[in-house]
Amino acid sequence: MTRLVTIFGGSGFLGRALVRRFAQDGWRVRVAVRHPAAAEFLRPLGEVEQIALVQADLANPASVAAAVAGADAVINLVGILFETRRQSFQAVHADGAATVAAATRDAGIGAMVQMSALGVSADSPAAYARSKAAGEAAVRAAIPGATILRPSVVFGPDDDFFNRFARMAQLSPVLPVFTADGFEVKWHGARPELDLFGGGGPRFQPVYVGDVAAAALAVLDDPALAGRTYELGGPTVYSMKQIMELVLDGTGLHRPLLPLPMGLAMTQARLFEHLPTPPLTRDQVRMMQADNILRGEAPGLEALGIVATPAETILPHYLRRYGPATAN
Ligand SMILES: NC(=O)c1ccc[n+]([C@@H]2O[C@H](COP(=O)([O-])OP(=O)(O)OC[C@H]3O[C@@H](n4cnc5c(N)ncnc54)[C@H](OP(=O)(O)O)[C@@H]3O)[C@@H](O)[C@H]2O)c1
Repeated sequence: MTRLVTIFGGSGFLGRALVRRFAQDGWRVRVAVRHPAAAEFLRPLGEVEQIALVQADLANPASVAAAVAGADAVINLVGILFETRRQSFQAVHADGAATVAAATRDAGIGAMVQMSALGVSADSPAAYARSKAAGEAAVRAAIPGATILRPSVVFGPDDDFFNRFARMAQLSPVLPVFTADGFEVKWHGARPELDLFGGGGPRFQPVYVGDVAAAALAVLDDPALAGRTYELGGPTVYSMKQIMELVLDGTGLHRPLLPLPMGLAMTQARLFEHLPTPPLTRDQVRMMQADNILRGEAPGLEALGIVATPAETILPHYLRRYGPATAN
């Protein structure tokens, strides 16, 4: 019999990839969103009537209960990158996840995937990471067999990471590289070399959005894989400086890289926070003070039988459009 999955946050970046993947695999997909009319674009990702849209807001438990009714599995992708007057990290990541988990448990559904993030912890200096950790704990408490996925930064054609830097490269004469305050002096024998980039800044392990979707599918397809916390990263660790070099390679643009000490990034972020959609917040700078890479302490993509896709094979396909026009 065809199985039904309810996906909260199915209209977002990861959501679009998951909806497509589950539909391709033959699942019926119920996408629970705040504004179903604005998510109509999802329907063509599946066959006629394979994808349904329902209204749900995590702040409204009755709407969440209605959205999970009759489902075989539930996925919660809802997340925000910065707080607004209407949505706090606590309300969305912690209380919202608890609401989804409680509704899932009360509906007698044992299969749930909670999308968390790499590096979350109850004692992180970043409120984003603390609230995501609280969400994980709430889900585990309600549904011990739930699966937690913790991706590093996720890339794909409509991501918010590489596209953001590519747009910046298009508009700005230089590209910033967040670095620890100060600089390092490296010695090559007796010859000192000034490293203004402090080793290249924070490190990331970008994971392909299609691999994250495959991971969610794998744990819901095979109960033996469920009930654990997986950390998802790509095949390569890059410093922030190397990330910017990937952006320049992918776009074909030439821009000098400029070290931007975290202290200065903090000041800049404080100003950006006055914008309705801040490109950087102080909380995000705090997140970047630790590397966002796998530590090998939790199973990853390989435990799910997935071969991680290298960023270099995908990035040029969607970053090229930011670069200089090429004659055919
Ligand atoms: N993208 C990454 O690199 C990355 C890395 C690590 C972890 N993650 C995690 O992965 C998840 C998905 O990220 P994403 O990049 O796909 O985010 P996204 O594109 O911003 O999508 C977020 C989704 O949440 C929905 N949403 C927001 N507030 C809601 C509410 N109160 N009730 C119901 N739905 C609500 C949004 O729909 P509407 O606003 O239209 O209602 C949207 O569908 C998040 O939990 C994020 O923390 C992402």
